[in-house]
Amino acid sequence: MKPSDLHNRCSTAFAFAEKQLRRLITTHPDFFPMYTVNGKWKHEGEAWTNWCEGFLAGQLWLLYGHNKNDWWRAQAEHYSRLLEHRKHDRNVHDLGFLFFSTWKRWFDLTGEEEINQVVIAAGRTLALRFQEQGKYLCSFVAPESLFIDIMMNVGIIFYAAQQTHDEKLWRIANEHCLTTRKYLVRGDGSVAHEGIFDRNTGEFLRQSTHQGWRDDSSWARGLAWALYGFGTAYSFTHDARYLQTAEACANFYIERTPSHGIPPNDWDEPHPKMPYESSAAAIAAGGMWNLAKLTSDATHARRYRDYALRILASLTSSEFLAMDTPGWEGILKHGIYHWRKNLGVDESVMWGDYFFLEALAKVESGFVDG
Ligand code: GLY
Repeated sequence: MKPSDLHNRCSTAFAFAEKQLRRLITTHPDFFPMYTVNGKWKHEGEAWTNWCEGFLAGQLWLLYGHNKNDWWRAQAEHYSRLLEHRKHDRNVHDLGFLFFSTWKRWFDLTGEEEINQVVIAAGRTLALRFQEQGKYLCSFVAPESLFIDIMMNVGIIFYAAQQTHDEKLWRIANEHCLTTRKYLVRGDGSVAHEGIFDRNTGEFLRQSTHQGWRDDSSWARGLAWALYGFGTAYSFTHDARYLQTAEACANFYIERTPSHGIPPNDWDEPHPKMPYESSAAAIAAGGMWNLAKLTSDATHARRYRDYALRILASLTSSEFLAMDTPGWEGILKHGIYHWRKNLGVDESVMWGDYFFLEALAKVESGFVDG
């Protein structure tokens, strides 16, 4: 696809996102949905865990960044304020998702120290999940459980450490990344969703999964979290091991995914019922765009950049963008939250919409930067 065509598609997708999000927040004020059911956000479906609230406010910040319209800014600030108390939330491992997509964006815009302190407090709270015995931040499931997803959240601890010069925080973030790399990332660049440890000794016991096909298989979103998250860890630390890990994950994604760039829920599942997990693709697009900037190898950079654009060309087509689907309330179709629990299967998911807009915003700024 020609760059000018993709540019036009980005503008169309942002205009559509404005329409969908305006309707959501005016029809259901102060409601934080997670996934649609038959394309509708409001339903009684289970959450499993409350990790998504930042993605709505985050999209409002992305829209404000795009259109600079004060109404969107007021909405973004309002929805961010509704989350502030979560900076002390010790029940989830998702404080990076909650605060990097919201209060950190707000701080980047204003430089106001009060706002920064909220982000730092969230980073400190997340660090309290650290298990000295196994050297990892434990998942919400149990102290003996390490999730690959936490690679997307550990950045807020690096950030808090950097802002406060707190060496203990820095060590925790670094050790978490090294443990994840050692036990969850495999030699072929695929990743396990979960690692189980002996709580008393810290010994690693086995790989496991909740949302993938099997314990030893390759859940696509988990890999996308790793691809993006290890890139973020590298951007804080400049530790070459993290860049190498992020690239290994990106290469696995590229090798195992059909040419349209959208993976199934799990690459190893034979004959999956649903061909697509679009949210993994949106995350991977943003992660690869970042990698293209992080790597100093021009050939690798070109490969990741082109692949990110390929994903976005698919996601902005009518197969995925819900524009031509009457009554559909999300932005991106064909996401999957939790197929075993039958939650949000072949639906829009809040994080899919968020990372889609984030990737579009990155590419749009690339058009401006050249
Ligand atoms: N719980 C994070 C995810 O579903 O990816």
